[in-house]
Amino acid sequence: MKKTIRDYDFNGKTALVRVDFNVPVKDGVVTGDDRIVKALPTINYLLDNGAKVVLMSHLGRPKGKYNKDMSLEVVAKKTSELLGKDVKFIPSKEVVDDDVIKEVKSLKEGEVALLENLRFNPGEEKNDDDFAKKLSSLGDIFVNDAFGTAHRAHASNVGVAKFLPSAAGLLIEKEIKYFDEALENPKRPFVAILGGSKVSDKIGVIENLLDKVDSLVIVGAMANTFLKSKGLEVGKSLVEDDKLDLARSIMVSAIDKSVELILPEDVVVAKKIVEGADSRTVELDDVDEDEMILDIGPQTVEKIKDVLKGANTVILNGPCGVFEIEEFSCGTMELAKALAEIDATVIVGGGDSVSAVEKAGVAEKLTHISTGGGASLEMLEGKILPGIDAIEEGENA
Ligand code: 3PG
Repeated sequence: MKKTIRDYDFNGKTALVRVDFNVPVKDGVVTGDDRIVKALPTINYLLDNGAKVVLMSHLGRPKGKYNKDMSLEVVAKKTSELLGKDVKFIPSKEVVDDDVIKEVKSLKEGEVALLENLRFNPGEEKNDDDFAKKLSSLGDIFVNDAFGTAHRAHASNVGVAKFLPSAAGLLIEKEIKYFDEALENPKRPFVAILGGSKVSDKIGVIENLLDKVDSLVIVGAMANTFLKSKGLEVGKSLVEDDKLDLARSIMVSAIDKSVELILPEDVVVAKKIVEGADSRTVELDDVDEDEMILDIGPQTVEKIKDVLKGANTVILNGPCGVFEIEEFSCGTMELAKALAEIDATVIVGGGDSVSAVEKAGVAEKLTHISTGGGASLEMLEGKILPGIDAIEEGENA
């Protein structure tokens, strides 16, 4: 067990908190605040316990250079609004300099500040010791609450932990709890639904989950590779021709491990991926050469719903089709709604799946919506995430 913020006395101390405020920003406006909202419990806990709070995050990929479009100033404003308290933005093109240090030292108990985008400094992504040391000079205790960035080994989440006592924030603690419970000790039956474009992106996840789940549902464009490997016509659908053998070996492995593998049984096809496209629902042997598979059909949805009815743990990672377009959204939306109706622990990871359950209006009804895209994928692959690994172990470790 990692140390958490409950293991420290923050009274009069400065908490240096790594958050993941890598949020969507359009025309200077934050258009999605989920990651900020989910960091608030940790910030409020620290404030309630007498800390001064210095927040730090990256935004986008500025590649070690200042870029005014990726400044965190707008995020500081949004955080102030959501927190209901002023969040002092401390700008510096280098992130930490003498003025920043002075400003941080002048903070009073109960005050909150946000540093400039960590990735403006080339030392951040290099996990440079000097930069990590400079950051650490800004706080007494390092708190990592940036689950979305935990798969990166950077100065602000790994390096800094060498120089300060460290703790997991409440969000990271929650993310670890849900993923660990599902992966180490799931209530069975345990069902994983994997979608998205490529088998190659998810192979690590499939291999890890085949040892853990009772049923594995493969949907989305990556299912096309499986269908083609079974000799079915998939027309112009997205397929990874160099992964056909891999798909076959996954199917054999599922049989060996007594995992029920569910693939699409009917599909929605069209010739164009556009709003208003002519689409039709067909059996698998009825896909024309000039058509693309863009969603699962109703028979497949019913089949998956049946499997879900008995499930006690479900992981969803990846959509069933091109859900952004009305004509190809039905499978993903129906499945999202079905997940909201079952009495199971449902964990959703990956940016597209999160958008899908939000679009279906069911996000609030599901057990855990992860704030990590790449990070949740690596958790599902069974990897050790460097950002979590770097946090100190607690006494009962
Ligand atoms: C994310 O949005 O997945 C995290 O903030 C990590 O961002 P990155 O992929 O640019 O490292």
